[in-house]
Amino acid sequence: MKILITGGAGFVGSHLADRLIADGHEITVIDDLSTGKYSNVEHLEGTGNFRLIIDTVRNEQLLEELVREADHVYHMASAVGVRLIMEQPVKTIETIFHGTDAILKFCSRYRKRVLIPSTSEVYGKGASVPFKEDDDLLTGATDKHRWAYACAKTLDEFLALAHWKETRLPVAVVRLFNTVGPRQTGQYGMVVPRFVQAAIKNEPIEVHGDGTQSRCFGHVADVVEGLCKLLDANHCLGQVINLGNDEEVTITELAERAIALTGSSSTIRYIPYSEAYGEGFEDMRRRVPSLEKARNLIGYKPTRTLDDIINDVARDFGKAAGSTTA
Ligand SMILES: NC(=O)c1ccc[n+]([C@@H]2O[C@H](COP(=O)([O-])OP(=O)(O)OC[C@H]3O[C@@H](n4cnc5c(N)ncnc54)[C@H](O)[C@@H]3O)[C@@H](O)[C@H]2O)c1
Repeated sequence: MKILITGGAGFVGSHLADRLIADGHEITVIDDLSTGKYSNVEHLEGTGNFRLIIDTVRNEQLLEELVREADHVYHMASAVGVRLIMEQPVKTIETIFHGTDAILKFCSRYRKRVLIPSTSEVYGKGASVPFKEDDDLLTGATDKHRWAYACAKTLDEFLALAHWKETRLPVAVVRLFNTVGPRQTGQYGMVVPRFVQAAIKNEPIEVHGDGTQSRCFGHVADVVEGLCKLLDANHCLGQVINLGNDEEVTITELAERAIALTGSSSTIRYIPYSEAYGEGFEDMRRRVPSLEKARNLIGYKPTRTLDDIINDVARDFGKAAGSTTA
């Protein structure tokens, strides 16, 4: 099959490209390399089944042509990461909304099956964990820029479901919870690579807030497996589905595990949110997915633990982890 991956030189998109090439598909990636890296897909060039186009999804003429040529589309291009969102709110909103609008328009025109990734951020300050797909969404005020990401992604979801409702566009919407693994960079505020990198260098690990906030981290290999199954299954179309891991850990515990698994002498430093991100930043205390729907639809069950993730990330940064419980 011919598959288009927008944002395919990014973290999740490049793992998706690896997986789909291994399955024998022909892959085209369009990526402007704003947060993605050529080195993420360099190994795929010359495989005969891979084409990289360095351009933006805002180039609609090109995008239309690429969608028309493809059988399936994974729309992974997006502004991503809390730091980027706080620093470039206009670009965040424009990239997310206009990019998805264009992809959906062309997929609808040529009747192409498409996966739209959304995010656990859409649950906002919701407190009834685990988060279920039909829960109410509760974001903050519009002068708190952090919520721009969640709201832009929510609008993407509405638009995707509207296309499904009006013309049965074959679209699946997947809410990714924190996804981590090799190739993810800490440059844009992603917590696991930031912590592991600091631990490897024996530098202080900076925890934002008091560290009692918790998250669940899914290994990118599990998530990619889920994405492929969700797009391939007809009964998942027109639905919104959570994907990730439901093993919950506080951010302090995460820092402690990164230190232990890399045999590091790092200490933990607590930094107030206002210092890390400036004024106007709000965080959520817990973010746990209900994976029941994904389990029922595609038998989804993550197989990698948080320790596997930390060890894989440490290895990716050039140092084998000190010990493992995996
Ligand atoms: N990684 C996570 O924890 C996570 C969680 C929730 C949702 N998601 C979603 O998954 C998708 C992939 O995220 P990721 O973690 O791989 O991030 P990433 O930043 O590594 O990937 C995004 C890619 O999109 C590219 N891109 C950005 N703007 C573009 C444009 N205008 N034209 C072409 N390419 C453009 C970037 O260069 C990058 O390669 C995004 O939609 C993101 O919102 C990721």
